[in-house]
Amino acid sequence: MIVRAEAARDVAAISALVADAFSDHPFSNQTEHLLVDALRAAGGLTVSLVALDDGGEVAGHVGLSPVSIGGTDAGWLIVAPLAVRRDLWRRGIGSALMRAGLDAARAAGAPGVVLVGDPAFYTRFGFASGNGPTMAGVPAENLMALSFGGAVPAGEVTCHPAFAVCMSPRD
Ligand SMILES: CC(C)(COP(=O)(O)OP(=O)(O)OC[C@H]1O[C@@H](n2cnc3c(N)ncnc32)[C@H](O)[C@@H]1OP(=O)(O)O)[C@@H](O)C(=O)NCCC(=O)NCCS
Repeated sequence: MIVRAEAARDVAAISALVADAFSDHPFSNQTEHLLVDALRAAGGLTVSLVALDDGGEVAGHVGLSPVSIGGTDAGWLIVAPLAVRRDLWRRGIGSALMRAGLDAARAAGAPGVVLVGDPAFYTRFGFASGNGPTMAGVPAENLMALSFGGAVPAGEVTCHPAFAVCMSPRD
């Protein structure tokens, strides 16, 4: 499977894929595709990778963007979001994207990555809960962090301003 950086020609497919993948997600307010677009427009998509299917079509996407933790911007990133095309779930694409996203974050100089997610899925990549970062409204076990070497910083995670699109009511 090919995983590469997003290209301009992928943008519409990424948006459609992310919207569809989260359309019935229990903790989604169906704004994840808007978040990807808003981050990109604001220059906040530090990492944006696509997986391609056998026909070269976009099969999955992962985006990472900058956060501060405890009021300090030390270069940490947050995974938001990870999505795989619905007809291709459970074939390892999400895991491959996640690993490639972590490699890209490390290569970009990030000291580590946080995310909001299900420990049942993310512990396999080395993420752990309750190791320092917090986020208002997010259960402690779902706020997970992975350091590439140093200590995990403690404190509230503040996301890129583009995340406001997730908080806004939609028509
Ligand atoms: C979550 C998602 C990205 C996983 O993609 P995927 O390509 O199916 O993942 P993989 O095939 O690499 O799955 C690896 C393993 O994780 C498990 N898994 C997948 N999604 C899981 C979830 N939400 N919770 C727990 N385990 C999960 C799979 O069962 C598989 O385990 P197995 O090999 O023992 O069967 C995909 O289901 C998706 O896009 N879901 C909707 C959006 C979403 O929930 N994104 C993550 C939150 S940001």
